[in-house]
Amino acid sequence: MLNKLSLALAVLSLSVALVSAGYSCAKPCYGNMCCSIPSDNSYYLTDFCGSTSACGPIPSCTGGQYFTADSQRFGCGKYLNVCRGSKCIKSAVIDAGPAMWVEQDAGRAIIDGSPQLCKELFGVNSCGWSDHFSITALVAGADDLRPVGPFNVTEADMIQLTKIHEEELIKCGLSR
Ligand SMILES: *[C@@H]1O[C@H](CO)[C@@H](O)[C@H](O)[C@H]1NC(C)=O
Repeated sequence: MLNKLSLALAVLSLSVALVSAGYSCAKPCYGNMCCSIPSDNSYYLTDFCGSTSACGPIPSCTGGQYFTADSQRFGCGKYLNVCRGSKCIKSAVIDAGPAMWVEQDAGRAIIDGSPQLCKELFGVNSCGWSDHFSITALVAGADDLRPVGPFNVTEADMIQLTKIHEEELIKCGLSR
């Protein structure tokens, strides 16, 4: 009886914690990640680097690199426009991650990016999930010729980038 009660309380407090964290993944995938794309395209930015990746290219720790993880959501070889206000950085998707528990702890989906993204968008050398650095991430069009790296956008540009993003999601069958 007591055991059942404490189990019920544990389940209740766990669900309260999940609800209050404000994050739920519509499409968990690959055992420990989330494949769904938030409807508002809004994420927290974290950073990573290393010597191997899920897609092949090395996520180098040296500066000046523009890449992200999140291939489970967007696919290897895609490009993301990662934006904070009027500043965007086109980045190559070259690795999988983060683990879903990190997004649950943060309370929002996460774009894990190269340290250069933190530097240029937030003026810091690294960023963790608890920093809660808000960004928007939009899939670049397949025929987008812009090189990787920073660029400035107007509000009209953002509307256009968002439109292209929504079209890419449909074309590529990516899930919300
Ligand atoms: C973006 O605009 C800022 C000024 O607001 C400027 O300093 C910067 O060079 C611009 N970046 C690019 C890539 O054009």
